[in-house]
Amino acid sequence: MPRLKEELSFKPLLSSFNTVVFHTVVFLHLTQPCAGQSQVVVGPSQPIVVTAGDDIILPCQIEPAVDASVMTVEWTRPDLNPRFVHVWRDGVELENKKHPSYNGRTSVFVNKLRCGDISLNLSKVRLSDSGKYRCFIPTLGRESTVELVVGE
Ligand SMILES: *[C@@H]1O[C@H](CO)[C@@H](O)[C@H](O)[C@H]1NC(C)=O
Repeated sequence: MPRLKEELSFKPLLSSFNTVVFHTVVFLHLTQPCAGQSQVVVGPSQPIVVTAGDDIILPCQIEPAVDASVMTVEWTRPDLNPRFVHVWRDGVELENKKHPSYNGRTSVFVNKLRCGDISLNLSKVRLSDSGKYRCFIPTLGRESTVELVVGE
């Protein structure tokens, strides 16, 4: 009987991790009411799978929502040089920093930035687009990672 008890107490550990993270986030929101301090940047926890040639949206959201259209928004792939996939600054895309393989294939949703939605629209996906993408708001010092897996 003691042996069964031991096994049972170990199993829920992994699944309770997410709950702990969630509660921590909620706790931070409750204890830091000042805007600009309590925000987090949230993306999908699972990889996004897409077929080459399709368009895909890499989700990323500031929570609680703040107006991101007036902020700098950086989408990068840390494994590339230059690492910039899409940079939004001063209300326009900053194209000169961008990795050339993404030229003309990326955009953010200008109307949704105001609601904290900083998702990236990546079109005509290539096999070489597979990798880990980072969405980052320097003003908030917050980031999230989205993994993209491109299949044939
Ligand atoms: C993403 O960008 C492509 C190319 O500009 C465009 O055709 C498509 O409509 C955009 N996707 C969404 C959901 O707006």
